[in-house]
Amino acid sequence: MTDTSPADRPDDRTGTPVGTDRVLVIVPTYNEAENLPRILDRIRAATPAVSVLVVDDGSPDGTGDIADRRADADDRVHVLHRTAKNGLGAAYIAGFGWGLEHGFDVLVEMDADGSHAPEQLPRLLAALEDADLVLGARYVPGGTVVNWPRRRELLSRGGNLYSRLALGVGLHDITGGYRAYRAQVLRALPLDQVESHGYCFQVDLAWRAVRAGFRVVEVPITFTERQIGVSKMSGGIVREALLKVTVWGAARRWEQLRSLLRRSRR
Ligand code: GDD
Ligand code: MN
Repeated sequence: MTDTSPADRPDDRTGTPVGTDRVLVIVPTYNEAENLPRILDRIRAATPAVSVLVVDDGSPDGTGDIADRRADADDRVHVLHRTAKNGLGAAYIAGFGWGLEHGFDVLVEMDADGSHAPEQLPRLLAALEDADLVLGARYVPGGTVVNWPRRRELLSRGGNLYSRLALGVGLHDITGGYRAYRAQVLRALPLDQVESHGYCFQVDLAWRAVRAGFRVVEVPITFTERQIGVSKMSGGIVREALLKVTVWGAARRWEQLRSLLRRSRR
């Protein structure tokens, strides 16, 4: 990519339209050798001007080499190689750091397995004109899930319901992983303090953005279950999410109680 001086940079505040050449799509991969070329082709076709960063955790199936070959052939494709499978959260934090260093105005999260349609990215970016963070949402009118086993959808819906009640946020798909951040959101959040490893990283960041006062909006998406490869979801990832959301929720209640007590003493 070409570096521009800060003075050349469009304003990245809410209310300004998003130029797609200022957008970095971050795609985390672990064993997605067959999926990666497909998703890169679809991103190119749907949004030709965006840059892509593949964050590979040393996939044994050679995903990292495939990413390298694509980066050699396309100067808007970049690769971050990490040495061990350290979880989705750590991969995204590293990707965000790279994107901020390179001066992108918008950072997008997208799965590599085709569940998130690149064809719907313009919809997310359009909504970002009046928001700081746009969540692609399955559980809002117009949003859908295609081909998920009933059990998995129930888990996802249950996780969202639990998060909404525990954290007291009015979001319907806070666990989803298709989203677009204005760079200023990620610059403002203490990314080095985010400890979520698994998919609760998504809840963690959305909730931090809400608490920091950023405008978070949801737009409907179609989530289609992968046709190739396997999900990396595990019991450990679910347990981490349940535990963390419960702790965050309890801390929030405790804070509310303390401020109530403080006020009643005055
Ligand atoms: N680099 C890296 N490291 N990538 C990872 C890791 C990891 O440890 N774990 C998963 N990924 C990548 C996968 O290769 C894929 O591109 C993407 O992250 C999503 O992983 P999946 O395993 O396909 O997730 P899923 O389909 O079960 O879960 C989806 O739904 C969750 C619940 O709503 C995703 O959209 C999650 O982001 C979401 O939280
Ligand atoms: Mn998936």
